[in-house]
Amino acid sequence: MGERLAVVSGGGTGIGAAVARALAGDGCDVLIVGRRADVLLATAERVNAECGRPGAAQAVSADLTDPEQLGGVVEAVAGRPVDVVVNNAGGYLGGDVSTLAGTAAHWRTNLDANVLTAVLLTEALRPALRRPGGRVILVSSIAAQRGGGGAYSAAKAALHGWAYDLAGQLGPEQITVNVVSPGYVAETEFFGDRMTPQGHVKRVAATLVGRAGVPDDIAEAVRYLAGPAAGYVTGQVLGVNGGSVLGR
Ligand SMILES: NC(=O)c1ccc[n+]([C@@H]2O[C@H](COP(=O)([O-])OP(=O)(O)OC[C@H]3O[C@@H](n4cnc5c(N)ncnc54)[C@H](OP(=O)(O)O)[C@@H]3O)[C@@H](O)[C@H]2O)c1
Repeated sequence: MGERLAVVSGGGTGIGAAVARALAGDGCDVLIVGRRADVLLATAERVNAECGRPGAAQAVSADLTDPEQLGGVVEAVAGRPVDVVVNNAGGYLGGDVSTLAGTAAHWRTNLDANVLTAVLLTEALRPALRRPGGRVILVSSIAAQRGGGGAYSAAKAALHGWAYDLAGQLGPEQITVNVVSPGYVAETEFFGDRMTPQGHVKRVAATLVGRAGVPDDIAEAVRYLAGPAAGYVTGQVLGVNGGSVLGR
């Protein structure tokens, strides 16, 4: 059994899978949570093989927008202290916004997928967070800082305000709360068939470093914030975007 336990939402694919690999590599046990059991199991097997610890990663399926499904995650934690919660599940959800009813549904699904998933997982695990030393990390988006995604941008921006409150509430218990805000990251399921060659070129051109991000770029930032060296960093938004949006 690893010394530390991490829970990573959306850990079956893309950025979440890279985070799971990085944290397992650092000796954590990792519970990866998502809706698709087969995808999670395949990733857990890969992570276990790579880190050489057969039980290091464990798959837990749950739709994190549904409060009733959080019980399974708490059960999988099995009473252990939770050192790290990485709220990475989310994504851009399209919809028909030509009517007010469609607009309401579009906003609700984006808020559910990107805000509620993080709020419910964090609240479910809050009593179990390691005190002192716990880490809560939220994955937002460059879209929160520069717009461009409508309801998705607004939903990701909501995470920033909530992170500041949570950092204030948990700080006295030496638990940190930070946001990692990725720019354009290729090699994930995020864009699906929405990405075009022109869209890729445009996004790369918007960076200062002239390349797309990869999931490991984001995972390394999460790894830092999740580790003991980052105990004096809380209530911060760390942009990992190749310089597409500048810090201020
Ligand atoms: N790729 C980018 O350029 C980019 C840029 C900025 C921010 N981000 C953010 O980074 C995070 C990871 O995205 P990614 O690029 O790695 O894309 P991804 O491969 O689509 O990962 C999203 C993950 O979230 C899980 N998920 C979605 N809704 C869920 C729910 N209701 N309950 C449980 N799990 C859920 C998905 O698994 P299931 O479908 O199996 O549930 C999937 O594993 C997202 O929050 C995304 O908004 C990505």
